Amino acid sequence: MNMTESITFTVQPGGYLQGQMRVPGDKSISHRSIMLGSIAEGVTHITGFLEGEDALATLRAFQAMGVQIEGPDKGVVTIHGVGLGGLQAPKEPIYLGNSGTSMRLLSGLLAGQKFDSVLTGDKSLSSRPMRRVLNPLSCMGAKIEATAEGTAPLHIQGQGLLQGAHYDMPIASAQVKSCLLLAGLYASGETSVAEPAPTRDHTERMLAGFSYPVRQKANLVTITGQGRLAATDIDVPGDISSAAFFLVGASIAKNSDLTLQHVGINPTRTGIIDILKLMGANIELLNQRLVGGEPVADIRVQSADLQGIVIPEELVPLAIDEFPVIFIAAACAQGKTILTGAEELRVKESDRIQVMADGLQVLGVDAQPTDDGMVVQGGEISGGEVISHGDHRIAMAFAIAGLKATGHVVIRDCANVNTSFPGFVAMTQRLGLDIVSEG
Ligand code: S3P
Repeated sequence: MNMTESITFTVQPGGYLQGQMRVPGDKSISHRSIMLGSIAEGVTHITGFLEGEDALATLRAFQAMGVQIEGPDKGVVTIHGVGLGGLQAPKEPIYLGNSGTSMRLLSGLLAGQKFDSVLTGDKSLSSRPMRRVLNPLSCMGAKIEATAEGTAPLHIQGQGLLQGAHYDMPIASAQVKSCLLLAGLYASGETSVAEPAPTRDHTERMLAGFSYPVRQKANLVTITGQGRLAATDIDVPGDISSAAFFLVGASIAKNSDLTLQHVGINPTRTGIIDILKLMGANIELLNQRLVGGEPVADIRVQSADLQGIVIPEELVPLAIDEFPVIFIAAACAQGKTILTGAEELRVKESDRIQVMADGLQVLGVDAQPTDDGMVVQGGEISGGEVISHGDHRIAMAFAIAGLKATGHVVIRDCANVNTSFPGFVAMTQRLGLDIVSEG
């Protein structure tokens, strides 16, 4: 997005968060609903779809491959699935903006098509590592060319049919796992992926929801290629990664009492709740239910005095997108918080270890970056001006820091908040944050 640098948030210090709200739909599920709905047979109806730039990039990609998709209109999308073999060659390179999930999952899905394709992205996406998917895909017979650095643009030579393979993932990545499972749909025989630690399992759950058999045993997931997906209806729950900003905001700001409605609480995503509870947060899960195969709850959060902790490493993949705002919680806690085992944060939309440490230091916080994490000494947050480096979650994390700052916080480079959380500013204003967006 070329407007990235022109949006600035200014947050006045203080305030608290009160009321009830529903955060936008889950980004991971929204991407997958378009992908699976497009290659299913029949008509898939989606409600609660996230109308953010990332999920829209996936939607446009499938439209460009000939899939008739209506919407989104207030979260409602209708997809006229074309079946596993029904996608058509896109006329132009497919531009995926800032979206790593779109690029990594699509590279698997497109490798087994009968046509060639090219995937491109913005500056951030074009610098993110793609060999993590290209290497295992090449073992399945995929032919994909990247730059010498292993980055986009990706030139994919469609192979028609791949060969099923087994892959032991060296890193815990749901994007790599999902990429290979999607490639496995277009492969002969079995494709199996073993993960070193549990990662989000939306692809597995949703394939099953589209009546595609998936076998799971311990850390191994296996599918057999060339079956068929049957269209289904999908109700996308609120994104716990978006709710995370409010879980932290209401915890750190005195007199807060907030209920976040209809949030997905899939156990592969709830590391943020576990970490905040270990820090002493007051969080309750109400009205727990299953919606379309995904657990959902209303989450009530009230202010609490947070304590610094050593974050258990096994929680890292389960909270991988939430560390920017967890660092803000750590800055407001009493004592030291130590994160290790999170080197993946260095290759997200920005280097989230360095960018967060830089911003926290500007705000007077003792935050020491390490190769694979950070040591944050809780204390006072002062006002100041920070740069989000076009990273949506960094921008929103520093906006939340304003609740506890002693002066106003200016955050530059915020346009990409629209990739995952359209309406963030209006929603936070309504709940009690004094924030304005300019540019
Ligand atoms: C995602 C997986 C995670 C996460 C990303 C979305 C997904 O990435 O950070 O925002 O939808 O599969 P990794 O699998 O690379 O950790």
